[in-house]
Amino acid sequence: MKTRTMYFKSNKLYILDQKNLPHKIRYVVCDNHKKVANAIKEMVIRGAPAIGCAAAYGFYMGFLTCKKKDARTMREHIKKIGDILAATRPTAVNVAWAVERMKMVANNVVGSGITEMREKLLSEANDIFNEDIAMNKKIGAFGAALFRKKSNVLTHCNAGALATAGYGTALGIIRRAFKDGKIKSVFVDETRPYLQGARLTAWELKEEKIPYFLITDNMPGYYMSRGEIDAVIVGADRITANGDAANKIGTYALAVLAKYHRIPFYVAAPSSSIDFSKKSGKEIPIEQRAPEEVVYIGGKSIAPVGAPALHPAFDVTPAKFITAIITEKGVFHRPYNFNITRLPAVDFIEL
Ligand code: MRU
Repeated sequence: MKTRTMYFKSNKLYILDQKNLPHKIRYVVCDNHKKVANAIKEMVIRGAPAIGCAAAYGFYMGFLTCKKKDARTMREHIKKIGDILAATRPTAVNVAWAVERMKMVANNVVGSGITEMREKLLSEANDIFNEDIAMNKKIGAFGAALFRKKSNVLTHCNAGALATAGYGTALGIIRRAFKDGKIKSVFVDETRPYLQGARLTAWELKEEKIPYFLITDNMPGYYMSRGEIDAVIVGADRITANGDAANKIGTYALAVLAKYHRIPFYVAAPSSSIDFSKKSGKEIPIEQRAPEEVVYIGGKSIAPVGAPALHPAFDVTPAKFITAIITEKGVFHRPYNFNITRLPAVDFIEL
């Protein structure tokens, strides 16, 4: 896709404002970690890998704001900016993962010259960004290889270029499979309440000239029962060691429907989305967002004044409903048993 999700230039992070898509292309300029944290919280940028990358650049800019250069002050400052960024969105593990990587480098370079500290930190943030694109392309190739025929696939939310540093996870697979002649059409769930499907996925597919149908969130069962959907592919915000996967609210219902209709249900995510420290999905914190996001669409209320609404932003799909988890390290099947020491090194994989 031509439009970049974010880019870093002259010590500033330019974030594509996803709240205005698909109608307006506008970048929000962030020159410190607080602005980045705010952009993540407000969902100017969203999607687990994308917010991880933004947090890494935010961390770098935050590091530059440290006034005193003695080791004690710097370590306190590193902790503070890490905490601010990590608290932005609790379900996506990629933010904490990127912040941990940045903190490790920062704590190691404290005491070196200022130029060296800056260079090492910026280079780590750039690595996090570039590795994400590389991982997505590998996920795309592994995932596309699973398709034997020209298929109709359904996706939920947006796990595309906009949700990552570029290319996308679930949508990366669709991109690659389309290129390989294996996609007939994509069914795009609108994804209430934020409409990431209608606003973002539909836009990406249009840009790429991939045929799609936009459907409302209550239509998948109808199309599955008619045999019109061959596979479901979604992204993930966090996958636990047993293979349970948190993703946009509504994913669980799709997985149950897919199981009933014997349709393969794939989860695509980079290994940075696997939380090896959590045994099962029960341990994943679920972000609760403002009820107003359910009550209002495009600034207009759709319910009686004062309607009490609920807004869990994610749900957890148990591993038993997931046909395969596609990562940059390969395709995994049940029992998942993710263990960091047992994951194959990515260099072994020939694509
Ligand atoms: O609330 P969002 O838009 O950040 O939720 C995004 C999702 O649920 C995506 O499917 C997930 O982050 C994977 S993105 C590659």
